Amino acid sequence: MKRLERDVVIVGAGATGLTAATQLRNAGHSVIVLEARDRVGGRLWTNHIEGQMLEIGGQWVSPDQTALLDTLDALGLKTYERFRDGESVYIGRDGVAKRFTGDIFPASPRTKSEIERLIGILDELVAQIDPAAPWEHPDAAAFDHISFRAWLEDQSDDEEARENIALFIADAMLTKPAHAFSLLQALLMAASAGSFSHLVDADFILDKRVIGGLQQVPLKLAAQLDSGDVCLNQPVRRIQWSAASLPADAVEGEPVEVTTDDLVVTARRVIVAVPPNLCNRIEYTPNLPRLRQQGLQHQSLGLVIKVHATYETPFWREDGLSATAFSPFQLVHEAYDNTNHGETRGTLVGFVSDEKADAVFGLSATERKERILQSLAAYYGPKALEPVVYYESDWAAEEWTQGAYAASFDLGGLTRYGAMQLEPVGPIRFGSSDLAAEGYQHVDGAIRVGRRLAAETIDSLASEQQLLRPITTAS
Ligand code: FDA
Repeated sequence: MKRLERDVVIVGAGATGLTAATQLRNAGHSVIVLEARDRVGGRLWTNHIEGQMLEIGGQWVSPDQTALLDTLDALGLKTYERFRDGESVYIGRDGVAKRFTGDIFPASPRTKSEIERLIGILDELVAQIDPAAPWEHPDAAAFDHISFRAWLEDQSDDEEARENIALFIADAMLTKPAHAFSLLQALLMAASAGSFSHLVDADFILDKRVIGGLQQVPLKLAAQLDSGDVCLNQPVRRIQWSAASLPADAVEGEPVEVTTDDLVVTARRVIVAVPPNLCNRIEYTPNLPRLRQQGLQHQSLGLVIKVHATYETPFWREDGLSATAFSPFQLVHEAYDNTNHGETRGTLVGFVSDEKADAVFGLSATERKERILQSLAAYYGPKALEPVVYYESDWAAEEWTQGAYAASFDLGGLTRYGAMQLEPVGPIRFGSSDLAAEGYQHVDGAIRVGRRLAAETIDSLASEQQLLRPITTAS
């Protein structure tokens, strides 16, 4: 085993971990980033499939995501707009594809007005929620004890309106069925993006992409660190610290030891920048406090298949379609033009979420592809059946993620454990985009959490220096 020493060990080379590492290094601290995979970026992965560049993970940037936009600027990365000229398509329960413009789907007048009414109610509730502390809302407990589906059923007897509203949070964001998370969790998701209306507005929430791919953010952040300070293929197995039976502030100054299969790194602080579902794959000695262990078990990642289909041309454009498409009743519940900047080929991206993903994962790869392409063809016509490149992102099968897009609490979890997850445990701090306020579940949130973890760590190292100074002088 090779032994190393650093001020701070960062576990995980995603956007959170690499942001924290860069900030700590800029503040003069020595760091090491230990990454389980053979690449940096975590849930950001820009890859070439049969010669076609595809964003396997996160890709879109919205105008409110100022932490990400600042980072893109600082790293010299340029963005371009998602193609959106032309009409969108909606498929209702009757299975008929209808063209429309604007945000509200072309349902019956009654359903449309119900959708607008529900958006209004949700916008009002969201405006009362602090995304940094949703558990502090006076009705937080009541909101956290009712599922989003049950709440929607209390609000409206129009099933199609309910399904459409559920789609924006359940299928499209948390990628869990609406009965599996609370109203409070839904409000947090919307508050983290500024309003519920922002989630409905595809031109806002899916505004821009990065030329060359969003994985360049972690790649460029990693390149700013010294080459020996980002170690790949190093899953962290154990974090060991002493005196942890004492209160958190009593362990300041005690060294902590982080072990992988090849390395033992001694440090003063550790940042565990991995999604909450993976925190418990690390052995902690002594163990994490009981409520922290409980809290981690109440957070889970959703499930979504991100499907790319590339064609020789973006044929839908000739047909006057933007490719923006929605249906709570289709296998692919939403789809968009995902053509790369400057390419003549056209690429569609579609999403299959939660229980619909379970169902198609039960099929053979050939049958699954057939079913998914048929769903795309329901929106765009038979040309969608013949892509030249086809790819399904399968993050649930990735050992170091295990789902997509991100983690959310089960019913009651946010009020029971939400505040606690931000607290350090001795010299260890935890965070990822899954614990963000603004930008929750997004790269913007990862950057914000990375900055916060770095700032807290820098402060705690500075106060430790203050404590140690008289001893150093006396000796
Ligand atoms: P992330 O999971 O990226 O990083 C954690 C790292 O820790 C990983 O590299 C992992 O390998 C490593 N790790 C885990 N356990 C370890 C251990 N024991 N030892 C060492 N390393 C360990 N966002 C957005 O803004 N716009 C978008 O369009 C999308 N779309 C999207 C699509 C898909 C398919 C996915 C999966 C995700 C998105 N997202 C997104 C979400 C976005 O990608 C995500 O929120 C951030 O990239 C998360 O960054 P983090 O660094 O917080 O975690």
